[in-house]
Amino acid sequence: MLRKLLLWGSENDFFSDHVARLGFVRRAVRRFMPGETSAEAIEEVVRLSVSRIRSVLALLGENVTEADEADDVTRHYEAVLKEIGARDLDAEISVKPTQLGIDIGEDVVAANLERILSTAKEHGHFVWIDMEGSDYVDRTLDLYRAARSRHTDTGVCLQAYLYRTAEDLAALLPINPSVRLVKGAYAESTKVAFPRKRDVDQNYLQLAQTLLDEIGSGGVRAAFATHDGALIRRIQEEAAQRGMTPGDVEFQMLYGIGTTSQEKLAAQGHEVRVHISYGIAWFPWYMRRLAERPANLWFVMRKMISR
Ligand code: FDA
Repeated sequence: MLRKLLLWGSENDFFSDHVARLGFVRRAVRRFMPGETSAEAIEEVVRLSVSRIRSVLALLGENVTEADEADDVTRHYEAVLKEIGARDLDAEISVKPTQLGIDIGEDVVAANLERILSTAKEHGHFVWIDMEGSDYVDRTLDLYRAARSRHTDTGVCLQAYLYRTAEDLAALLPINPSVRLVKGAYAESTKVAFPRKRDVDQNYLQLAQTLLDEIGSGGVRAAFATHDGALIRRIQEEAAQRGMTPGDVEFQMLYGIGTTSQEKLAAQGHEVRVHISYGIAWFPWYMRRLAERPANLWFVMRKMISR
């Protein structure tokens, strides 16, 4: 119930306008975000690299309705790619189709993504495409297929909570995709998504098994993006049964969540990447983080008391 309420709040304009201004909420969000600027995010890229942890940078913001705004986001990413290239940092970026203008037009998002991918190629970087609400899945996969036909260094996120994802993955495999597998963070109806956590977890494991088989035969990159310790252990066991080493298996997590296990996995030899989000438009994204673990609300309350 609380999860549903928080996800409803993530899409509510009144909440976004009023709650996001409260000082204690702004302080609490710092747990998941090093700051609002790319400079602060890039400082964390450098700090994490000391523990062999690599990064993925993401500018917060979604559902852009003006072409100028989508153009600003594109320019921002072009500048970030140039900067991490110039500083020789091991960071990738992750973009949201709705932030690059998918709601304005498919030609708009495709053109903006192409600019970002061309800049990334020039500077030797990789670009991920996030997966948003289920209404966007078909358009996002079409966007990815078109991008992948021109650029190898690009990947897409797939969500284990959707019934359709096993079929989507099977349809992508012939193009040797790069896939970031997540459970899924949006409010979805039972018509399209498993309502029970244990079914989502089971589907995640089945999708992970398919991906592990594909990594073994080459061509596919898979990133298992989860903080779920039991799932991580199962993936490690499945990989070992296939004769894979830790270096063959990549995990990704969100900044500020599962920090100890990030370090442990990196020390074991896994590739570990942490998604560092930054920017001023953090409200819906932060509400989704609270919905994933409503116990996080206590942390927000503590910030309210300690002001
Ligand atoms: P689960 O929710 O079962 O959590 C397992 C454990 O992890 C919890 O018991 C808790 O200990 C810890 N944990 C999880 N979330 C936490 C939180 N917010 N605060 C504190 N502890 C927490 N989704 C999407 O729809 N589209 C996307 O593009 C992406 N991209 C993405 C990239 C990366 C790198 C990650 C890690 C996640 C995403 N997600 C996403 C979010 C994803 O769908 C999912 O909502 C979260 O990862 C939480 O699910 P877990 O797999 O961690 O499992």
